[in-house]
Amino acid sequence: MKTLTTISELRAEIAQHRLQGQSIGLVPTMGYLHSGHASLIERAAAECDLVITTVFVNPLQFAATEDLSSYPRDAPGDSRTAAAAGADLLFLPGLQEMYPLGREGVLTSVSVNELSAVMEGESRPTHFAGMCTVVAKLFNIAGPCTAYFGKKDFQQLAIVQAMVRDLSFDVELVGCEICREPDGLAMSSRNVYLSTEQRAAAPVLAQALVAAARSLSRGETSVDRLRATMMDVISTQAIGQVEYLEVVDPITLRPLTQADARSRFFGAVRFGSVRLIDNLDLSELDLDSNAAISQ
Ligand code: PAJ
Repeated sequence: MKTLTTISELRAEIAQHRLQGQSIGLVPTMGYLHSGHASLIERAAAECDLVITTVFVNPLQFAATEDLSSYPRDAPGDSRTAAAAGADLLFLPGLQEMYPLGREGVLTSVSVNELSAVMEGESRPTHFAGMCTVVAKLFNIAGPCTAYFGKKDFQQLAIVQAMVRDLSFDVELVGCEICREPDGLAMSSRNVYLSTEQRAAAPVLAQALVAAARSLSRGETSVDRLRATMMDVISTQAIGQVEYLEVVDPITLRPLTQADARSRFFGAVRFGSVRLIDNLDLSELDLDSNAAISQ
């Protein structure tokens, strides 16, 4: 695996492979790679000739009050994980390379309305514009490719899908299933911040979503009652502070009053200063590979 730090090197390298008729797979990340990220890289490696993993902690998607400076970083570990998962190129640009005039010097912003206003967007009003702007930039650098995103950030995936459609990016998106710890907690770079007590309580979020999905699968369609089920489960762990628990349409992300088999359950819960998100739909209840979820 080659590590590149400049946009021009990356463009030149991709151009060479494209000339040979190779297909390009892109896996954008903010690093501190775990098995969830690795699963995206592995899928890209199985489906594409040249796999590029990008690692950039994008300041545009963090609000002033958020954890940009403390966001976990581990370039040597990322390099090992990306190589082991099958990446051919690791793009590791510095801030100066991505934003030569600094964060304040970025005058362009790509925003996807409506989809960005709900759930994560309510708590983090500038997050998705910052995310879309860097993803648009990475798509422009990579050129035509297949890009792999996790359903862990389902709202992000839906927003990137809308951006690709609206702005005609020559990018095919692949949404990948959520990788979980054996107790059901969705893997996340932020899990390292959890204290022992918070880590022990954290699976309650996935358990709440599962309980509601099970209730729906048994015929309960009232979102008020499904939300009450989620609240009951979360309240078994007093240290979990609910930010939102929603049942939404998987395409529009609009909150529903009556759920159906396509509905998706979302939650954000704070454990101290650590904010965790998760989501699932009925199909995840059937995944044999996810013992903690399907039992
Ligand atoms: P990051 O949080 O590092 O996530 C990178 C990719 O890994 C995203 O597509 C995310 O959904 C996926 N991912 C994270 N945890 C996962 C899990 N447990 N199972 C499956 N996939 C998982 O998302 C971002 O970075 C940034 O917003 C980015 C798109 C890179 C733009 O800066």
